[in-house]
Amino acid sequence: MSDPISLVPLPRSVIWSSGTWETTDPWAGLSVGISEDLPRAEYTLSITPSGANLTAGSEAALADGRNTFNQIVLTGETSIPCVTISDSPKYAWRGLHLDVSRHFFDIDTLHLFIDAMALHRLNVLHLHLTDDQGWRVEIKGYPRLTEVGSKRPRSLEGHMSGDPESWTFDDTPVEGFYTQDELRELVGYAQNRGVMIVPEVDLPGHMQAAIAAYPELGNFPASPVQVREVWGISGHVLGVSDEVFDFVRDVLTQVADIFPAPFFHIGGDECPRVEWEQSADARTRMNEWGLTRVSEIQGRFTDFATQVLAEKGKTVVAWDEVLESHVPDDVVVMNWRTEDGLEESLERGFRTVVSTVKDLYFDYAQGPLKKEPLAIGEGMTLKDVYTDRLLPKKLDDEKAALVQGIQGQLWTEYIATPEHLGYMAFPRVCALAERAWGSPEQSYGEFVERLRGHLPRLDALGVSYRPLD
Ligand code: ACM
Repeated sequence: MSDPISLVPLPRSVIWSSGTWETTDPWAGLSVGISEDLPRAEYTLSITPSGANLTAGSEAALADGRNTFNQIVLTGETSIPCVTISDSPKYAWRGLHLDVSRHFFDIDTLHLFIDAMALHRLNVLHLHLTDDQGWRVEIKGYPRLTEVGSKRPRSLEGHMSGDPESWTFDDTPVEGFYTQDELRELVGYAQNRGVMIVPEVDLPGHMQAAIAAYPELGNFPASPVQVREVWGISGHVLGVSDEVFDFVRDVLTQVADIFPAPFFHIGGDECPRVEWEQSADARTRMNEWGLTRVSEIQGRFTDFATQVLAEKGKTVVAWDEVLESHVPDDVVVMNWRTEDGLEESLERGFRTVVSTVKDLYFDYAQGPLKKEPLAIGEGMTLKDVYTDRLLPKKLDDEKAALVQGIQGQLWTEYIATPEHLGYMAFPRVCALAERAWGSPEQSYGEFVERLRGHLPRLDALGVSYRPLD
């Protein structure tokens, strides 16, 4: 019998039976409970002609079960087939990253994004709150971060390639930030749906917007900079004064107080060392610190941030570049660059989240660039996301246990609207969710057929997506 209802991600075990539950208010007919007899990550959902029952081993599993139930009832069927589902995830970290710096997305859009994540039993929203092109979080005592740092009067038009002399600019201002109260509300909204928000404050590179707001945060305060209007990697990175470290402490502490998640992402990617090489102050500091290599300055930032956040009870997450300078053992590494990096991180014993650019960067086009809206690059089809190998071929049990999960990335240099965001995210996020959940393996053809039955749920939510080929 083919499944009467398409579920994505496919639960571990789904047994359909004859009979239907006739209901016009399914949520009212769902009874829920926590059972200590079940493993913590597991839930069972049963639907019989007389109603629905959800039992879970923990609050998190209960949220997973509710989200599966939502798939069954979302489009408003009144005749629901009977079924027994027993389910638990493969990975604890089933993530989606969203860059709200390059383009700003309002709270309503974030609500919808979280709804769509929850529908797919994704449970970590990694919110990239700061970058060269925009600072998006209110920090008390530093009003210029948002007065100046959250505003970009113009942005590069078209793809960032070719001769800079030929670049043109779009004069539509991009601005916006979240107050601390708005973010606290967002945290609650996500929690109610089983989604944890992990904030990112990217440092010590990707800080040009902050340096535009407060030149003294940079290495050369006498040469002020603006919020960056083009993409790529900025050479303007944090300076090394006590004032800068006080700033880092204040920002991390305030952001940590907004987000109750036990994890905090400190970025660490793409930090050019040129300014530190040119700065007399940096050289003096290196002498004080007993460092011989400029690259170790980044290690000082990683150590400092890790200490500050440990005082707040947080585990640090960082992009894999942190492995190139000193890094504490308990940092969770987010591997984005290469599969070699993944092997190195696991080899060195770090807990790791697989986030590789070649498989999981959803800012790359889903088909040939000629046929797709402007994107950073091409070559990441739905099939690639569903079928590409994500982990090294040989992985012993010890290393496999260090893999915390899988995460998709939505960088937004080339994504300016909620509609385009949905188009880039879906349906690839459906494939990501299936893999992060660890659904029973199916052929790609079966997955696509199941998606056809699933996509009307995105219509019901009001989330846009790229139609299937
Ligand atoms: C990154 O893509 N710079 C993490």
